[in-house]
Amino acid sequence: MPPRHFSWSPDGTANLAGAPVAGLASAFGTPLYAYDEADLSERIETYARAFGAENVALAGKAFLTGRLLEIVQGAGLGLDVVSEGELDFALRLGFPPERIIMHGLYKPLSALRTAAREGVGHVVVESPGEVAELVEVARQEKRRVPVLLRLAPAVDVHTHPSLATGNPASQFGVPIEDGQALKTVRELVAAADAVDLQGYHMHVGSQIATLDPFVSGLHAVAEFARTAWAEMGVRPQVLDLGGGLGITDDAPSPGVLKEAYFSAVAEALHGIPMPRIMTEPGRYLVSPPGVTIYHIVQRKTAADGRTYLIVDGGMSDGPRPALYGARPEVAVSPRREGEERVDIAGMHCESGDIIRRDAKVTRAEVGDLLIVFDTGAYNHSMASHYNRVPVPPVVFVQDGVARPATRRDNLSDWLRLEVR
Ligand SMILES: Cc1ncc(COP(=O)(O)O)c(C=O)c1O
Repeated sequence: MPPRHFSWSPDGTANLAGAPVAGLASAFGTPLYAYDEADLSERIETYARAFGAENVALAGKAFLTGRLLEIVQGAGLGLDVVSEGELDFALRLGFPPERIIMHGLYKPLSALRTAAREGVGHVVVESPGEVAELVEVARQEKRRVPVLLRLAPAVDVHTHPSLATGNPASQFGVPIEDGQALKTVRELVAAADAVDLQGYHMHVGSQIATLDPFVSGLHAVAEFARTAWAEMGVRPQVLDLGGGLGITDDAPSPGVLKEAYFSAVAEALHGIPMPRIMTEPGRYLVSPPGVTIYHIVQRKTAADGRTYLIVDGGMSDGPRPALYGARPEVAVSPRREGEERVDIAGMHCESGDIIRRDAKVTRAEVGDLLIVFDTGAYNHSMASHYNRVPVPPVVFVQDGVARPATRRDNLSDWLRLEVR
């Protein structure tokens, strides 16, 4: 899906948010991550309108830069972080701690300490063993930490196996069926001087295009909340239903998702006062507004006759095709007469570095630009230095004006990490 303000000029060259893509490429070099800022803001507003801005936390794992945090903060959203690095990054850039939801299968004691001291909005308990650690830190810091318990709702989600997190085999959350979740609630309640169990969390997976997995997960969570209420009088004040909304044309809108959640919660809780419903979208907010721009640097024919276009980046800046079999939409600029079928390979020494197999593009020449769409999520945040290829810069573009948000890293940055 191209960004909302992506267009083609009559001469066949591409524009992003009013700026010629060729101009962006020559000003900032390639590869380049470029975001349509107005599209991003509109997506944030759509989610905020549906759920209330204070109930939406951007999943920082999808994409996290200072400029993005400014936009998110300005729109009144929160932030979901999954590591000490994301937490410290957001706090250092002045993001309000009370709007942060802290996740993570591994939360170092130092991160729990920061969370308690700074007063983050919620710490999400992922594993039963975390309770004792959190309680100890909270008591040391003399802070009562607001907590959500992440449940493993055991729903089968039809997405790539690496994107399904709510299934029974998942390492995420605390299982309900075997009594582990109830036992964990008991422990949290027993330590009420240090932790304030405010509710439950689920995240069933990503790239979900139908309501069913969300609603099934929610039913499991709500049923559990009823049991904990009946057995221990724990009233769920918050249900955080994670992210995962897909961005295909047939996926429900945030408004439809909200309606489904609210009616399912009202039905499933049977008279327990309606809790605050929170969500943590990542991909929906930041993926479609972002594109990656490459130069086509070689064109060649393989021994089996297929045509390869080689670009000046690849799996180090866009790992999703190799990791999840993603097949991104691509376009060549300028657009010429005639079409061809090509395989597009990245520059890395790796057979798996294929950006797209069998792509239909307009006739391409070396020196043209390749635009890969929908790369705003899980690309910059997952970028690596594989083969010592620099991580591309990020620019935000609006009304024809490009604002750099991060620079390309370079040899000096890497050499600074060397210990001799
Ligand atoms: C706990 C949690 N919340 C939110 C998200 C965001 O998911 P998505 O980008 O699919 O919306 C993820 C992604 O894996 C997650 O693990």
